[in-house]
Amino acid sequence: MAGWGDTLPQSVEIVEVGPRDGFQILPDWIETSDKVRIINSLIGAGIRRMEVTSFVHPRAVPQMRDAMEVVQGIDRDRCACFAMVPNLKGAERAIEAGIGMLNLIVSASESHNQSNVRMSIEESLAGFGPVLAVAREAGVPVRASMSTVFGCPFEGHVPVARVLEIGRRLLDMGCVELNLCDTTGMANPRQVAHLACKARKALGAQCIVMHFHNTRGIGAANLLAALQAGINRFEASFGGLGGCPFAPGAAGNVATEDMVHMLSEMEIYTGVDLPALLDAVRQAEKTLNMVFPGQVIKAGRSCDLHVRPTT
Ligand code: COA
Ligand code: ZN
Repeated sequence: MAGWGDTLPQSVEIVEVGPRDGFQILPDWIETSDKVRIINSLIGAGIRRMEVTSFVHPRAVPQMRDAMEVVQGIDRDRCACFAMVPNLKGAERAIEAGIGMLNLIVSASESHNQSNVRMSIEESLAGFGPVLAVAREAGVPVRASMSTVFGCPFEGHVPVARVLEIGRRLLDMGCVELNLCDTTGMANPRQVAHLACKARKALGAQCIVMHFHNTRGIGAANLLAALQAGINRFEASFGGLGGCPFAPGAAGNVATEDMVHMLSEMEIYTGVDLPALLDAVRQAEKTLNMVFPGQVIKAGRSCDLHVRPTT
């Protein structure tokens, strides 16, 4: 008889997005040297793919204004680094900086796309044609992140058919990977399993990544639902930082170290050195002078035993 865990993947690729999704929402300026140190410490802990910044308008997201310096300061030899770009101007800046991959951003809901990038979905997609052309010319692969896939804070329900249609168009344009994002933590496990199955069938099993926010405490449940539906690539953010400045109520991603901890307890391989990651995240907490929402940095790993009190 088949056991409960038989459909789970044996390994998962962790894609760290804290230096973009996490830093972009922090109001106080983080020195470029601190950003670079944190990114390099995450690479040192075994993170092998990371979204390191975004090439957006510095007026829209001032925290990302040092994107070029960040890309050029980090240890890119050991980690496949990519950056978010909303349009051609961002793509040209990112390619000039020497980034290894571009991440396009478009929402599945019209009103979030307008709030985020001041364009309609159609205008965003039309603008991606020239982006893919310059990227191809430069030999830089392009992936795409789709926001508000599981619900929009302005419009509510987002039809699965629309997500699949936008996804198909992005892949047909030449994007190599499609990242389905629960931007404001509106997803539930049943919905995740449903979309994961539909997306794998309609768009191809190998190209799907998922990105969950823990806004309402459902992040780990959504992760499990996606794993059971065969998804094996997930974005996460160290410490549980994260959120979109253009979506009300946005809160942090599932913390990378909490995700790695859960997967490692389930004997699913990630390649990340969890004790080293916990050290890096605790160090980042000091550097940023914050208390992160992540839980394993507070509780320790479940395999870390305690001396039993004798009185
Ligand atoms: N980087 C830097 N400058 C940019 C740029 C980019 N990616 N895109 C456009 N600009 C500049 C233009 O060159 C132009 O400059 P000029 O006034 O000196 O000629 C100016 O910005 C206005 O260009 P326009 O195309 O009208 O942009 P906009 O003002 O409508 O802004 C975006 C559109 C997409 C650039 C902006 O909304 C943005 O950066 N959003 C970021 C969203 C984000 O990061 N969200 C969080 C992630 S989920
Ligand atoms: Zn996010």
